[in-house]
Amino acid sequence: MISSKIEEALNRQIDLEGFSSMYYLAMGSWAEVNGYKGVAQFLYHHSDEERMHMLKLFRYINDRGGRAIVPPFAAPQKDFKNIREIFDIVHSHEVKVSNEINALVELCIQEKDYTTHNFLQWYVTEQIEEESLARDVIDKLNLIGEDKGGMYLFDRDLATLTGQQGGGKGHGGHGH
Ligand SMILES: [Fe+2]
Ligand SMILES: [Fe+2]
Repeated sequence: MISSKIEEALNRQIDLEGFSSMYYLAMGSWAEVNGYKGVAQFLYHHSDEERMHMLKLFRYINDRGGRAIVPPFAAPQKDFKNIREIFDIVHSHEVKVSNEINALVELCIQEKDYTTHNFLQWYVTEQIEEESLARDVIDKLNLIGEDKGGMYLFDRDLATLTGQQGGGKGHGGHGH
């Protein structure tokens, strides 16, 4: 059984993971209509992953005697300047998510909830990967700069990267 304090905190994380999913969906849609099919594919996939992170929390809360609630999600930004802006946002958003996960881990220690603490370790590992993935993409964009041909290849590259992100990097239990 989880305490109501932990239940509330996990429900807030549901809100954040669900919002992340919508945010990446909005970015993917912008990329798609602006001619970046590979980037769109990457972001749609990323959106699916965030939904899976949210679903994992639903199952955990309900399994542990709490109740997972679908929150009223905030509407994500729909217009973006360019691809660079999108990935800067992805990176800073993932850093924010990592901070929230760390705060949750801290709360579990305070509350002596070692089961939830253990459950959250999956998210801790996932955040390391997601932050590093976002940084890798930004590094590529820095190399390309304003080069149009480079952007064309970058878009193709991201379609390839889509199959590799999540699940394949040595930690099991992705659950999808
Ligand atoms: Fe996530
Ligand atoms: Fe994420």
